[in-house]
Amino acid sequence: MIGLIAGMGLLMAIPLSVQADNEGMTILESRCVNCHDLTGPAPATLRELWARKGPDLFYAGNKYKRVWLESWLQKPKRIRPAGFFYVDHIKPGEDGDVIDESTLKPHVALSAEEAHEVAEALMALKARSDLITKGEYKPGKISLTMGEMRFDKFRGCMACHEIEPGYGGLSGPEVYTAARRLQEDYMMSFMRNPQAWDPKSFMPNMHLREGDLEKFVHYFRALSEENFE
Ligand code: HEC
Ligand code: HEC
Repeated sequence: MIGLIAGMGLLMAIPLSVQADNEGMTILESRCVNCHDLTGPAPATLRELWARKGPDLFYAGNKYKRVWLESWLQKPKRIRPAGFFYVDHIKPGEDGDVIDESTLKPHVALSAEEAHEVAEALMALKARSDLITKGEYKPGKISLTMGEMRFDKFRGCMACHEIEPGYGGLSGPEVYTAARRLQEDYMMSFMRNPQAWDPKSFMPNMHLREGDLEKFVHYFRALSEENFE
């Protein structure tokens, strides 16, 4: 009898703890899954590509820094100046394309408690660990000037990426916050081969030399210490 009661206690304890652990996942599955893929794989066909409404999150735990996730989810701020689908949010202007702000909607914001739970659930999504070499990035320094030379003049990355607000291309994510948002090892891996993560990524494989990968991450880290607000 005592064994039975103890056994029941155990049975009741398990669902409770599972419930608590999955609060973040419950939010993700009810309020986020319409726009974000939580299971993968990434779009492999154009049809799947056009159906995608936001960045894939099924490898979030290999991509984002947790501290950033938790704070961004409470106060989301645009990362891609012209939205996730660049072509949907630009219009021709006198000096080339300009962003059509009226078509860009603010991102849903979470309470501090929800953001905490969701960040925890996202950090547990570890698909594509095969593409990550943990500890691959070794911290080092590069001056902002040298970094910009490489990013802009030598490699033309600035055609698609902003290096400060309002300065740079509009089709990719801003890079001046990249090191706050993203794990260093992920950045190395993504730049090495964007299509390994996302077969239909609009970022071409730039065939960067191994030594250059690390220098770009040094540069993003230096940029992230600047205060552009
Ligand atoms: C209506 C569609 C939509 C919904 C619903 C939505 N998101 Fe998003 N989300 C987006 C878009 C679009 C972006 C890209 C924003 C940008 O670049 O500024 C984004 C960006 C993000 C990012 C940053 C990812 C990155 O790599 O840039 C995170 C994290 C995120 N969303 C989490 C969530 C969570 C958690 C929820 C649910 C509470 C949610 N989103 C609901 C569309 C959506
Ligand atoms: C033709 C446009 C284009 C060029 C050129 C380009 N990128 Fe990108 N880049 C993108 C797009 C598009 C994404 C990711 C799409 C997304 O997640 O929304 C991206 C993503 C990235 C990311 C991850 C950022 C994030 O927020 O997820 C890094 C880091 C990056 N690029 C670095 C570089 C570097 C370094 C170069 C030059 C060697 C470069 N890019 C050249 C378009 C470009």
